[in-house]
Amino acid sequence: MDRIRLRGGKPLEGSIGIGGAKNAALPLMAASLLSEETLTLSNVPHLADIATMAHLLQQHGVDVSMDGGNGTPEGRTIHLNAGKITSTLAPYDLVRKMRASVLVLGPLLARFGEAEVSLPGGCAIGTRPVDLHIMGLKAMGAEINVENGYIKARAKQGLKGAVIRFPQVSVGATENLLMAAALADGTTVLENAAREPEISDLVQCLVAMGAMIDGIGSEHLTIHGKPSLRGATHKIVPDRIEIGTYLAAVAICGGKVELTGARLDLIEAVAEKLVEAGCEIGQTTRGISIARNGSRLKGVDFLTAPYPGFPTDMQAQMMSLMAVADGASMITETIFENRFMHVPELARMGANIVVHGSSALVRGVPKLTGAPVMATDLRASVSLVLAGLAAEGETVINRVYHLDRGYERLEDKLSACGADIERLKD
Ligand code: EPZ
Repeated sequence: MDRIRLRGGKPLEGSIGIGGAKNAALPLMAASLLSEETLTLSNVPHLADIATMAHLLQQHGVDVSMDGGNGTPEGRTIHLNAGKITSTLAPYDLVRKMRASVLVLGPLLARFGEAEVSLPGGCAIGTRPVDLHIMGLKAMGAEINVENGYIKARAKQGLKGAVIRFPQVSVGATENLLMAAALADGTTVLENAAREPEISDLVQCLVAMGAMIDGIGSEHLTIHGKPSLRGATHKIVPDRIEIGTYLAAVAICGGKVELTGARLDLIEAVAEKLVEAGCEIGQTTRGISIARNGSRLKGVDFLTAPYPGFPTDMQAQMMSLMAVADGASMITETIFENRFMHVPELARMGANIVVHGSSALVRGVPKLTGAPVMATDLRASVSLVLAGLAAEGETVINRVYHLDRGYERLEDKLSACGADIERLKD
């Protein structure tokens, strides 16, 4: 298994290109199941999770072809044609690799009247049930049983429009039900829907495919179902968590970097906290610029929340910054119950962090020291990369495959800006 070795202490200077959002690309790829015509997606990032979704769709019979590629600003373009579906079963072996596989449930059920999708298990960041996905599909008339580890869903007469109020905001459930409702008979209203930019990206693509949806960007989405959808071409929104992660990298290392292709409106909650901590951030014609020179970062408090709140997917990275900030920081995680696995690893690098339930009190230390570390999820792993970039001495990150699920050419992008970082191939 590959590892990443880095030596800390270098400021970052230069520019970093931002790719398309993984968490937008995955539901968009699943949306191809809604039409017998081709869906073409551009600005697709080159990531392990994208390959896993492509593999799952191929297993359903979707014809998947990719072109474009390395280094072009548009990234890779992917063509998905679900004209000849051969299976509505999403097997355990694929779903257990990536929870987002459950996003095929709504589209398969809506178009074919049946789907059998392995129930994703718990994962490193929490139990992550899918009860809200199931509740919504049942409200639309589906018969659903969970048997032998599989969600077995049927709607032989098709799905019917319904009013669905989510008791809690869920990105995945909003996406699954949006896609299902686009092919349902009648009007569906989703209340307390997630408002993440990836949801709006999916709505825009569904509209391009012929769906009728009102309320884009709001917590109240109204979908007027259509008997069929057509093919479309859609460009994936920039990855706000990749943007936030590189903003955090410059914040912790110091220096000045432009993130090309980035949009400040996607990441305002994080940018506000970084400015409060002592960074200068602005929108440029090509993207976002960030600088931190001289003074030490200041400790700031924050709470994760659904968009437009501070994203849970940036909590670990921000904690690394707070570990070396001047003063204390109170960090509260409200989305996932177990998303502090990076804490013991940061502690091994010299961080002073105490966890009480869903809050972590971080008392900034003057410096971290390099160490061999590993993490069990994507964002926790990248938080250790950030800590290593600021630490004295050498840090080796194990289990790099977590990083490869969500960050394209991470070590190349950082080393081009002066970081001392390399991948060790095994
Ligand atoms: C999406 O996961 C993202 N994944 C996650 O990104 C992100 O952390 C999360 O949203 C929150 O922003 C993708 O988009 C592919 P949720 P999702 O349903 O959809 C509970 C990353 O690092 N819940 O919004 O699975 C759930 O347990 C990742 O890129 C239920 O209780 O998240 C959690 O506590 C990891 N029942 C909360 O809701 C349900 O049926 C929010 O989960 C569904 C969710």
